Amino acid sequence: MLLGHGHPEVLEVIAEQMPHGTTFFTNNRLGVELAEEIVRAVPCAEQVRFLASGSEADMYAMRLARAATGREKILKFEGGYHGMSSEAQMSLAPTRLTNFPEAVPDSAGIPASVAREVLAAPFNDVAFLESLLAEHGKEIAGIIVEPLQRIVPPEDGFLQAVRDLCTRYGIALIFDEVVTGFRLAYGGAQEAYGVVPDVCTLGKIIGGGFPLAAVAGRRDLMDHFDKDAVGADRWLMMLGTLSGNPVAAAAGLKTMEILRRDGAYDRLHAIGERVQGLYTKHLDAAGIAHRIVGHPTLFDVVFTGSEVRNYRDVLAADAATNGRFNKHLRAGGILKSPSKTYPCLALTEEDFEVTESAIAAAVAAL
Ligand SMILES: Cc1ncc(COP(=O)(O)O)c(C=O)c1O
Repeated sequence: MLLGHGHPEVLEVIAEQMPHGTTFFTNNRLGVELAEEIVRAVPCAEQVRFLASGSEADMYAMRLARAATGREKILKFEGGYHGMSSEAQMSLAPTRLTNFPEAVPDSAGIPASVAREVLAAPFNDVAFLESLLAEHGKEIAGIIVEPLQRIVPPEDGFLQAVRDLCTRYGIALIFDEVVTGFRLAYGGAQEAYGVVPDVCTLGKIIGGGFPLAAVAGRRDLMDHFDKDAVGADRWLMMLGTLSGNPVAAAAGLKTMEILRRDGAYDRLHAIGERVQGLYTKHLDAAGIAHRIVGHPTLFDVVFTGSEVRNYRDVLAADAATNGRFNKHLRAGGILKSPSKTYPCLALTEEDFEVTESAIAAAVAAL
């Protein structure tokens, strides 16, 4: 909710749309306009297909990589979150740490056959990826990555190296931009970091708070959703009752229009940096070891004295202190996700006062 909850201009357009229909199943004018705006904004997007959730979008993106390459294996980075499909539940948040590239299921009910087709790699480790691909590169259909993994930023050159390796081995590169899309920059992480994937997934902001997500990518890949373009054998079916529903599309279009207004992203950065500054000010004054990890538009406090480059570094940090910190913030009126701080454009001076006093009280309690 980058604009905050119940933004009046968003409420207005959904109220306008509702009497004309709330879901059509077929493509509709607002959905088409939303797709056109995504194509204008997002570097990899030549075509767009809509779904109702980010989970679905990631599932289809991975299937698309398989359809396009005729290969079966998917590589993901340990700790990366890509929704709820069986593949995505591999090495999402493992407590049993195995040797890479073995991936472990983080949910019951995942068949061993799926587990065998998923490889896990450490985020920010180019050397590991190079040696893994030297051996298995030609078996891998797709690499899926959150360009900013949860809150952990890519080191300089990491995403470009992943891009180059995917090109070298004919692997489809999927950026999961469900969170980063229209947040890190209007064109998402691919604009912010200057690395263009083959396909990306989008969600959250593009539905303006309603259920809507998308797969967007290069035309020759997206053609696999079109039976006439690729033939029945290479086609992958995509259907969903609520996909691209017009209320969500109206909310998303208005949200994106507001984000295009002058200075929106400068303001968002300033708001994020101000919240980061509040964390640092109070934790430093109390002498509590911590790192602010992330991007001004999406970050968190990690209670550690060490550098945070990947999932295992986050796992090694002090999660109990993090849990207590969040609990005390909540008692002070600030509800944040367990491991993320999402700044939003709606914060007022009054909100900052409440935020600072909650942070001060939470730090005192620690
Ligand atoms: C990076 C990422 N991918 C995918 C998803 C799944 O999206 P949804 O909850 O809409 O299914 C999420 C949800 O938070 C996410 O953060």
